Amino acid sequence: MNVLGIETSCDETAVAIVSVEPQGRLKILGQQVASQVKFHRNWGGVVPEVAVRQHLLALEPLLDRLWQETGLEMIKIGGVGITRGPGLSPALMTGWCFGRALALAAGCPWVGVNHLCGHLYSPFLREGTLPDEDHVALIVSGGHTLFLRMDSARRIERLGGTVDDAVGEAFDKVAKMLGLPYPGGPEIEKMARQGNPAAVDFPRSMIHSGDLRLSFSGLKTSVRVYLNRLGQPPYDPEIVSQVAASFQAAVIEVLISKWEIAIEQTGVRCVTLSGGVACNQALRAAAQEMARRRKLRLLMADPALSTDNAAMIATVAASLLLQGQRGDWAEDFDPNLSLESVC
Ligand code: KG4
Ligand code: ZN
Repeated sequence: MNVLGIETSCDETAVAIVSVEPQGRLKILGQQVASQVKFHRNWGGVVPEVAVRQHLLALEPLLDRLWQETGLEMIKIGGVGITRGPGLSPALMTGWCFGRALALAAGCPWVGVNHLCGHLYSPFLREGTLPDEDHVALIVSGGHTLFLRMDSARRIERLGGTVDDAVGEAFDKVAKMLGLPYPGGPEIEKMARQGNPAAVDFPRSMIHSGDLRLSFSGLKTSVRVYLNRLGQPPYDPEIVSQVAASFQAAVIEVLISKWEIAIEQTGVRCVTLSGGVACNQALRAAAQEMARRRKLRLLMADPALSTDNAAMIATVAASLLLQGQRGDWAEDFDPNLSLESVC
C-alpha cells in the first residue's frame, strides 16, 4: 500500500509517499519539503499568519513535485495520513483540510496522525521497519523535550520531560540573545565549533533531581545575565563562540545524564533520538558515546527526517491504516493533542 503523508504543524510544509507491506517493511518513495525559514527570519520566530499563507501557497505545487518525483498519481494512493496535532492551530488546519479533501475526492481512507508519534517512528525509517523493539525515545524539538518508552507492541509510557522550555526553544532564544538568525539551533552549533565548551560554567539545571524532569529556562536566564554584563549585541564572534559552545555543552550534559536515568529505570537495551535538535552533531556524538559505553542499540533519525517531515507522518498513518483505523469526519484537528497510550 502507498500512503501519502501531509505535515503542516509548524513552519515546514511537507508531503511524502511511503510504501508499506503488510509485514511492516517500508520504503520512502518520495518526499518534498518547503521550508518557510526565510519568511519567518525577519521576525525572529514563527509568525502563525505567515505560516498559514505559506502552507496554502506551497501545498499544491509541492504535491505536483511529489507526483513527478515518484511517477505516481492519486489513484495509486491507498490512504492519506495528516498531522492532526500538536502544533500551531491555523497551520494544522491547512493540511487537515487539504489532506481530507484529497482523500474525499479520491475515495480513499485517511487518518489523523499525532505529530509526536511521527517523531517517535522516524529513527526506524532508516531500518525500513515500523518500531518493533522495546526502547527509550528522546524527542528533542522546538516544541517538545520528552523521554518516552515504547514497547514492541507500540504501547507508550511518558517517562519525563521538560518542566518549562523545550530544548529547541532554548537554542532559538539563546541564539537570538547572541544576535544569531532564526532558527537558532544550527547557528549555535556552527558557532560552538570554534568555542571552548568549558569557557563559561553555565548551570546544569535539575541534573541532580534524580528523576526525569528537565529545565532549560534557568540556563537561558544565566546566558542572558552573562551577556548583559558584557553589554548589548553585536558581540565579538569569539564571545559568541564561547557562549554557544558552553550553552550547548550544558544542554547535552543534562540530556545525556537524564537519558541514562531513563535507561537504568527501564532496563531497555535500545534507545532512539529524534526531533529537530537531533540534527545537532555534538548531541549525536554524545549519544553514540553513551550507547557504546552502555552497549546499547542506538537509532538516530537521519538529519533530514529529524526536523519536521511528512515521511514520518505517512509511516504512522500506514501503521494505523494497516490496523484498520479510519479517520472520522466528525474528528477535528487539535493543537494540544496529547499522546495516546498506543501509537
Ligand atoms: O522538530 P522540529 O523541526 O520542529 C518542531 O516540531 O518543533 O524542530 C525544530 C527545532 C528548532 O528549535 C531548531 O532550532 C532546532 O530544532 N534545531 C537544532 C539544530 N537543527 C534544528 N538545534 C540544535 N542543533 C541543530 N543542529
Ligand atoms: Zn516536530
